[in-house]
Amino acid sequence: MRIIYIDRTDSTNEEAKRVPPIHGLCIVAREQTGGRGRRGRRWLSERDKGLYASFVLRKPEKNLGILSLAFGYSTFVTLSKLCKGFYLKWPNDVYFNGKKVAGILLELLKDRLIVGIGINLTYSQEELSQFPVPATSLTSEGISFNRELLINNLYDEVMRMYERLEKGKFGVEEFERNCPMLGREILVIEGEKKYMGRAIGIGKNGTLIVETEDGIRELHSADVSVREERWR
Ligand code: BTN
Repeated sequence: MRIIYIDRTDSTNEEAKRVPPIHGLCIVAREQTGGRGRRGRRWLSERDKGLYASFVLRKPEKNLGILSLAFGYSTFVTLSKLCKGFYLKWPNDVYFNGKKVAGILLELLKDRLIVGIGINLTYSQEELSQFPVPATSLTSEGISFNRELLINNLYDEVMRMYERLEKGKFGVEEFERNCPMLGREILVIEGEKKYMGRAIGIGKNGTLIVETEDGIRELHSADVSVREERWR
């Protein structure tokens, strides 16, 4: 296991760009001064209140479309070792009780893939109200954890997933089985455009397949954000 623990950094994803491209290197920080989320958002990164980790991985040759789902799935598997009740929201968020508890920020560079994972550990509900979506933390859900074990388990799951991806042994069905938004009405926000549809499945290349009034659409995570109207 190659985990580097640091005290404070701008963002562990940035740190992961500054180190040599050693496959399997993981950087964990106690706090981030410029934690980043998907779609240019800020990621709440107060000292010890979250897990902030970034993995440096060899750039995979295939299955690029499902990378984001795959590492969301690894995070979901890691958290599910603590208790039941976690689930996935496309493309890679982990939810509990209708609220987001973890998120993934993937960056594909020329010489490496960076997988940044943030898990809310001990934030209070009041602190989490700064989040752009309803969010929660392990502590505020009454879930106990051991920080070191959580990091080690996450490390194992991410590395195992990487090997599965290389061998073509991760299928979107595993994600689908743990993604209750499928079959439900969702609101799609695509730039200025908003429309309703029913999420009906995940495409082989990681797209979200949505049935709309105008027909079937395939959504790429980079371009849209989706909001579930009514689901657990
Ligand atoms: C999301 O918006 O859901 C993605 C959040 C990713 C946050 C993690 S925390 C560790 C790594 N460093 C960052 O700045 N972002 C990711």
